[in-house]
Amino acid sequence: MVTLGLNIDHVATLRQARRDIVPNVLQAAFAGIQGGAEGITVHLREDRRHIQDADVRILKERIDVPLNLEMSIAPEIVRFASQIKPAKACLVPERRQELTTEGGLDVAGQKHKIRRVVSILKKAGIVVSLFIDPVEKQIRASAWVGAQFVELHTGTYARFRGRKQKKELNRLKEAALYAHALGLGVNAGHGLNLQNVGAVAKLPHVEELNIGHAIIAQAVFVGLKQATREMVMAIGRTKRKSV
Ligand code: PXP
Repeated sequence: MVTLGLNIDHVATLRQARRDIVPNVLQAAFAGIQGGAEGITVHLREDRRHIQDADVRILKERIDVPLNLEMSIAPEIVRFASQIKPAKACLVPERRQELTTEGGLDVAGQKHKIRRVVSILKKAGIVVSLFIDPVEKQIRASAWVGAQFVELHTGTYARFRGRKQKKELNRLKEAALYAHALGLGVNAGHGLNLQNVGAVAKLPHVEELNIGHAIIAQAVFVGLKQATREMVMAIGRTKRKSV
């Protein structure tokens, strides 16, 4: 059974465009949960371009589904996460100039540093996932550093079409099988939309898909609860009864 983790960063992006108080991220989370999201994801970036510290605090306090905090391994952010204790954390690479997360985390290239961060977060009771490209070396390293999950980067799959896309889907499948064999849980995300999500939802061992942009974009026209519901249906599951 694959669940949807709704990423609401873009709600905060819109709010921050005016440094205003609307749209309200907590209200967005509630609408998404009513639409069937079984987790809420936010990325507290070092530059605080969308989600702010106060958003993470209030979401942690008020929502009744797991909060997944996407975060870099910067010490300031790791300290914050350890204090707030979201249910889950997903470590991602972060560069100031990027529009969104580009590429997976190079776990293999900084194994010792990431192992320390994973250990700190796990000691705080947080389930740790690593956002990685579907590459054997990165999966092996993810198991070595003690992460409980990998989140496979589906951005390349989402960008490609035709044969290239099929090939990338196969790479994701092999990666999911390998991660599972090493005892890792498997999530996936990035660039997923109503058209391309089905095939990813059918990959072996995938538990959760983290999706933001496509849902928030659709919400402009149909509302967030409905847009979330449409994605949940596309994933092939509607567990929560919506109001
Ligand atoms: N997973 C991770 C690790 C991400 O960084 C993002 C983007 O914030 C997503 C999933 C969601 O990607 P999208 O907004 O393209 O659905």
